[in-house]
Amino acid sequence: MIGERARAIDRGLIEKAMIEGNAASTSIPAEPLWYKDAIVYQLHVRTFFDSNADGIGDFQGLTQKLGYLQDLGVTTLWLLPFYPSPLRDDGYDIADYTDIHPSYGTLGDFKAFLNEAHRRGLRIVTEIVLNHTSDQHAWFQEARQSRDNPRRDWYVWRDTDDGYRQVRIIFTDTEQSNWAWDPVSKQYYWHRFFSHQPDLNFDKPEVVEAIWEVMKFWLEIGVDGFRLDAVPYLVEREGTSSENLPETHAVLKLFRRRMDEHFPGRIFLAEANQWPLDVRPYFGDADECHMAFHFPLMPRMFMAIRLEDRKPIVEILNQTPEIPDACQWAIFLRNHDELTLEMVTDEERDYMYDAYAKDATMRLNVGIRRRLAPLLEGDTRKIRLMNGMLMSLPGTPIIYYGDEIGMGDNVHLGDRNGVRTPMQWTGGWTAGFSLADPERLYAPVVSNVLYNPQIINVDSQSRSPHSVLSWMKRLIRTRKTSRVFSRGTIEFVHPANHGVLAYVRRLDQEIILVVNNLSSRAQAVELDLRAFRGSIPVEMAGGNIFPRIGELPYLLTLGPYDFYWFRLRRL
Ligand code: NOJ
Ligand code: CA
Repeated sequence: MIGERARAIDRGLIEKAMIEGNAASTSIPAEPLWYKDAIVYQLHVRTFFDSNADGIGDFQGLTQKLGYLQDLGVTTLWLLPFYPSPLRDDGYDIADYTDIHPSYGTLGDFKAFLNEAHRRGLRIVTEIVLNHTSDQHAWFQEARQSRDNPRRDWYVWRDTDDGYRQVRIIFTDTEQSNWAWDPVSKQYYWHRFFSHQPDLNFDKPEVVEAIWEVMKFWLEIGVDGFRLDAVPYLVEREGTSSENLPETHAVLKLFRRRMDEHFPGRIFLAEANQWPLDVRPYFGDADECHMAFHFPLMPRMFMAIRLEDRKPIVEILNQTPEIPDACQWAIFLRNHDELTLEMVTDEERDYMYDAYAKDATMRLNVGIRRRLAPLLEGDTRKIRLMNGMLMSLPGTPIIYYGDEIGMGDNVHLGDRNGVRTPMQWTGGWTAGFSLADPERLYAPVVSNVLYNPQIINVDSQSRSPHSVLSWMKRLIRTRKTSRVFSRGTIEFVHPANHGVLAYVRRLDQEIILVVNNLSSRAQAVELDLRAFRGSIPVEMAGGNIFPRIGELPYLLTLGPYDFYWFRLRRL
């Protein structure tokens, strides 16, 4: 009797927990280096799917779409900030680190989402914006009360606005200074981004502890890792650029040590928009961040395909230092921000603006606010080639939501909102994103002639084996057949034809040869493959066998923007 009652109570509790989404997070089989083999999909809860017809995407909606993401073949989702926020920087202005923005649901909804994602084998990476808070955060509200408030020096204050003169301004289109006047406490406060985003003061141990508490909160709930926003700027010092300082690295190493100790298997992904040599220290001796974005590679992929020349890609990868075995670059074509042109020379920037943003409305800060498909003129051959390189160059690839169907943008929406429009699921008025009236949506669906939902949507592309979406699924599936892509070395082949980018990826006995035609015209190329004499190239998409490699240069012909992945089979 008692046993039965206890069981019934247990059942009741479990059901209640399930309903509230509080069941302990189902875990995915442990694989310490999972992030190296991951295929990441970046999305914003707000933009993905609206479950309650209020015009705003939410966690319940996202949970309903997990099947789609699983079917696409991605293994990890990176979610943009979903915390309470005045949304003046789309959530990167956090007002409360340990809750969910009411528009997106509740903490219970988040936990239910996380459980369901884990059940499907998908890992979840969330955002920790640690450099700054919103000016609406309780910490800042307290800090500005008076100069002797105990939280005062959680932020960086000065009587004048002439400190840290060597520090550059990042949002050049909006901000004139990194200091802003606080009329309440009558001093200036320091901010690297918008003036409503005061920088936290990481010289204060209490701040470090407070951010660690935030990390712990989400790690205990079960998230698999954090993208660490804007990491180069944590600490500032007079007379320096206040970027990448040793003190900043010390803070990150401390967080890493604690995370490893209490939550092994979780990861940090560093957002450091810097040159490869300056990013290298963020990996430390495999004791700082597990991954870091490779910012300079991205614009060079766009340069190479436009110049029809491999040089920009080869050059930057040759300048990229080795990283510890347990670390990994994160590579991408587009993301939620402008296509940043900070990591190029002035000449290269002029070239990129001329090639990809002739119209001034397409430009923002030091970059271009357009999506992948419009940047590539909707040319599906180029979309495939760029994704083919994304999936075969060294690193963990990140797909920006909507790019798997070639979604368009709306450069007239202001700031970076043009690349954050509702996901296009169907050909309906709201693109199947929401049951609300179109005018209620948080942002209008893309409506131009080339990319409106009637033309570009998941539903129609799912029905055609030849769509970009179906092709992306095959590409991802092929990539997953080998760890060479995620863990192998790269060596370039140097054919005389510069329109062709060829490289060999190698892991132990496994060798894959990748050949990309960056040009708009058919090309013949002769590759020196003598090192692989006797091997037989097997083309990975179709499984066809190509002629055996011999002593002579290996001749291949490729149509415009064609590419091949060959597994080299030794007989
Ligand atoms: C980097 C984020 O990617 C960007 O969207 C944001 O505006 C800045 N950090 C400031 O938080
Ligand atoms: Ca909603």
